[in-house]
Amino acid sequence: MIFIKSPREIEIMRRASQIVAEILGELKRKIVPGITTLDLDAIAEELTRKKNARPAFKGYTMAGRVYPCSLCTSVNEEVVHGIPSNRVLNEGDIIGIDFGVIYEGFYGDAAVTVGVGQVSDEARRLMRVAEEALTLGIEELHEGKRLGDLSSVIQKTVETAGFSVVREFVGHGIGKMLHEEPPIPNYGDSGHGPRLMEGMVLAIEPMVNTGGCEVELRDDGWTAITKDRSLAAHFEHSVAITKNGPYVLSKL
Ligand code: MF3
Ligand code: CO
Repeated sequence: MIFIKSPREIEIMRRASQIVAEILGELKRKIVPGITTLDLDAIAEELTRKKNARPAFKGYTMAGRVYPCSLCTSVNEEVVHGIPSNRVLNEGDIIGIDFGVIYEGFYGDAAVTVGVGQVSDEARRLMRVAEEALTLGIEELHEGKRLGDLSSVIQKTVETAGFSVVREFVGHGIGKMLHEEPPIPNYGDSGHGPRLMEGMVLAIEPMVNTGGCEVELRDDGWTAITKDRSLAAHFEHSVAITKNGPYVLSKL
């Protein structure tokens, strides 16, 4: 069942998503060679407290495992759900930072991938294409269209650029729960899937690899990495569907 949100609920979700966006913006400024991913997690927690919100991911249970941190930090070949640690970021790395909060009973969820100092041309192109795929996918979010229209646009954008789309993880509806229906694959056929309606709020999150689309899990049970160890990028926005089309709640 896809829950439809009222304008009042969407306004609360906008505030939750704005908190996420502000914190991601702060974190971006702190990403320089020498900082650890656990430093970033601590900054995210501190800022969340100051904004009277609670971190969404800490304590989240998936397949019987409890996520231990507030932020997901996924470096280079790590696709999503990297766990903050004492790992030091180096010039040339790319890092996906994925963050969510709960605020007045509603979730906000967003992610960006950024370079640490100067990065390779390929890494820059990967990040540009992944973000472009998200932007073009979001433009499909009009009442009466179908979810497959978005999935298809994301997949085409990525594959036309010579990159691949991860299948094992998908976007999701979002609201009073972090993960609501529908699941939102980043691949598929236009004209298929649920019809889009005003009041749906969706977290769209393409994961894009420079190499093959296959991923595997590290022994920590969370960190997804590319099987061929190619680079991966991840971008996410929480978006409401309105009468006038997509309203990106997590854009500053
Ligand atoms: N944005 C990710 C998602 O929607 C973050 C979840 S991390 C977890 O799946 F720890 F909460 F699982
Ligand atoms: Co998400």
